[in-house]
Amino acid sequence: MTQSNNQIAPGRCFLEKVRDRLTDEERQLLLVIDPAKLPQHVAIIMDGNGRWAKQRGYLDRIRGHEAGIDSVRTVVRACGELGLRALTLYAFSVENWKRPQREIDALMNLLKRFLREEINELNENNVRLVASGRLHDLGEDVLAELHQTMQATASNSGLVLNLALSYGGRAEIVDAVRKLVADVLESKIRLDDISEHLLSRYLYHPELGDPDLLIRTSGEMRVSNFLLWQIAYTEFYVTSVLWPDFRRADLYRAILDYQRRERRFGGVTEA
Ligand code: IPE
Ligand code: IPE
Ligand code: MG
Repeated sequence: MTQSNNQIAPGRCFLEKVRDRLTDEERQLLLVIDPAKLPQHVAIIMDGNGRWAKQRGYLDRIRGHEAGIDSVRTVVRACGELGLRALTLYAFSVENWKRPQREIDALMNLLKRFLREEINELNENNVRLVASGRLHDLGEDVLAELHQTMQATASNSGLVLNLALSYGGRAEIVDAVRKLVADVLESKIRLDDISEHLLSRYLYHPELGDPDLLIRTSGEMRVSNFLLWQIAYTEFYVTSVLWPDFRRADLYRAILDYQRRERRFGGVTEA
C-alpha cells in the first residue's frame, strides 16, 4: 500500500512541513519534543467550555462549546502532523444527558455541523474518524452525519480520531460484558477463556490500544467516567487552561511533560 501524500511521518520531517505556520513559541516547543518517545494514543477530557463563556462575560454556556470547536480542529491537525496513531476526544458523556435540553440540543447541533463541515479537513490530513459510546442514544440525524463522515474518511491511514459520544467508561464495560456473556452462552468462548486480554477485545475500539497520555483541561482532578478500563497505566496531565483556549503549545507542553515521565508499569527501573 502506498503512503498517502498527506501523511506526515513521525520524526524531524514533520517539523519542516508545519514550521512556517507555527508561532515562535510553538516552534521552540516542537523542537524539543523527542519524536522517538511520542505517545501513540492521546485521550483528552475537553472540559471548561462553560467556565470559558462565563469568564468572557457571555450569558450563554453554549458560546463556550462553539469556541471549543477551534481547539478540536487545531488539536486533531497537530496530532496528525506529529504522526500519532490515535486521539480519543471526550465529547459527550452518558451523564451529560442530564444537562438542560437546550444545551444538549446545542451540543448535538454543533456536533452535526462539525461532522458535516470537517470531512474535507479530515481527508486532507489523512484522519480516519471512529466513534465510541452508546451511539444508539444519539438522534437519527446525528447518527446519519456520523456514519457519513466515518464512511467518507474510512480509507485514511493516518491518525484515528475517536469521538467519545454518549460515552461512559462503566457503560463500555457493561456493554463488553453483555457481548462476552452472549458469546459464552452461544459456546463461542468458554468460561476459562476469559482473561483481561479477551475482555478488552469486547470494548468499543480495542484496536486503538490504551491511551499513553490522558489530558484534562480546566483543572479538574477527576476522570468523570472516561476510559476506566483503558487508563490503568495511562499518564495523566491536568492543565488549568480551559478547553476553548487550548492550542498547539498546550498540546506540545503536555507531550513534553509526558516525555519526562518514567513509566514503570509496576516494575522497577533497572540500575
Ligand atoms: C465541556 O465543558 C464540554 C462538555 C462536557 C460537553 P463543560 O460544559 O463541562 O464546561 P464547564 O466544566 O461547565 O466549564
Ligand atoms: C466530562 O466533563 C465530560 C466531557 C468532557 C464530555 P463534565 O464537565 O461533564 O464532567 P464533570 O461533571 O465535571 O465531572
Ligand atoms: Mg465540565
